[in-house]
Amino acid sequence: MEKDSTKAYGKARARAGIPAERLAEFRKIIGEEYVLADESSLSDYSHDETEHLHYLPDLVLKPRTAEEISAVMRICHQYRIPVTPRGAGTGLSGGALPQLGGVVLSMERMNSILKIDERNGQVITEPGVITEVLQNAVKERGLFYPPDPSSRGSCFIGGNIAENSGGPKAVKYGVVKDYVLNPQMVLPTGEIIWTGANVLKNATGYNLTQLVVGSEGTLGIVTQIVLKLIPLPAHDLLMLVPFRSLEKAGEAVGAIFRAGYTPSALELVEIDALMITRKFVDSAIPVTADIEAHLIIEVDGNHPETLMKEMEAIAELLSGYDIGEVYFADDARQKEELWKLRRRVAEAVKIDGYTIEEDTVVPRAELPALIRGVKALGKQYGFHAVCYGHAGDGNLHIRINKEGISNSQEDPEIIRSLRALFQLVRDLGGTISGEHGIGLIQKEFMDIVFSEVQLKLMRQIKKVFDPGNILNAGKIFDTE
Ligand code: LAC
Ligand code: ZN
Repeated sequence: MEKDSTKAYGKARARAGIPAERLAEFRKIIGEEYVLADESSLSDYSHDETEHLHYLPDLVLKPRTAEEISAVMRICHQYRIPVTPRGAGTGLSGGALPQLGGVVLSMERMNSILKIDERNGQVITEPGVITEVLQNAVKERGLFYPPDPSSRGSCFIGGNIAENSGGPKAVKYGVVKDYVLNPQMVLPTGEIIWTGANVLKNATGYNLTQLVVGSEGTLGIVTQIVLKLIPLPAHDLLMLVPFRSLEKAGEAVGAIFRAGYTPSALELVEIDALMITRKFVDSAIPVTADIEAHLIIEVDGNHPETLMKEMEAIAELLSGYDIGEVYFADDARQKEELWKLRRRVAEAVKIDGYTIEEDTVVPRAELPALIRGVKALGKQYGFHAVCYGHAGDGNLHIRINKEGISNSQEDPEIIRSLRALFQLVRDLGGTISGEHGIGLIQKEFMDIVFSEVQLKLMRQIKKVFDPGNILNAGKIFDTE
């Protein structure tokens, strides 16, 4: 079911439509078979993983080179045709939804890893490479690209850059921005530029690279990327710790760091979310009924004895937080099973009716206050929420289920409750998205965390890059 974009998002322009002359030009640039306008293709590109939202594009283009994209952008700029760049469509904030119609620019054919530079610990890649494919390719050379969103088996590096993705390893290794050295991009007006240099330090002018990372495809289309790699740690250990109280699990997170440990993953999964996921993933991992939440804790490094000591010390520390029996994933198969459970949570709870997902992030020590607040808001506004996510980063995904409501846009009561949630997050010193981005669905809450002065600066930046306001217009904030 398609939504009327002009109504749903206020200032968005009416749908565009693409004249036949333009279609012919696009075919000439990209090749007949990569210009799709049939109903079923348009439908395939009308949604991502965000709630239940669908917007049909007028056209899907699948370019192969930056030069083709440049030629397309010049035309789109000249004729003011909306363009929505798209990676694998796994986004959770609507960044790839073509709510104005126009062109969806799918990066799926730009999927080559161009060079693994072992001497410098760098990789040059195209944006349509699946994150896990890239991780595995560099792993074979003893190198490590840590950012690993749950969708890493299907999401693209380019999309990860657009959203500044994180994932479980971020707690020790940082997020995508910490690995992007130098992206090549096509500007909305068609010029092709590199924004940085292939170096680890760079104090040369404005940092356009970091402006592009996380800009959600609104400033340019990334067509190549130079990424930093680090040495691959040789060993890791993984355990699952059950807590009788969700809040206590939240408290324990801060205690681990205060005791001097930095796990390579520190994830929280509330029991309802885990139980729902177990309906979809075969798992022999023991879970008992008296538990409210689990922490998944991984440590990694090169010395197994040190890791073992660290894990034991963390388990000992946590024994003061009313925990059940700790499960140690002993071998690769058990580790894989536990990670599979964790990675499938979002998908599983969505199928189960928890369609609305928030991506709150607070200073780590405020997690218990956030958890308390979420539960209180659920009672007040009549929704069920399950929490899970990257507790070590204070990044809590909150999935909301309200009977009869499939997305956050259609129910004023849900919108009010989200406003209250985000105000709480702000008051705790946090912000409204840690790794999923603002896209379409969070933009009406930007005023909670930014003043008009800040928003105006962002709009002005957008205008400098995209004077015709054609590239992913209406994402993050309204631009006209
Ligand atoms: C996760 C995704 C939804 O953490 O960010 O599973
Ligand atoms: Zn996440």
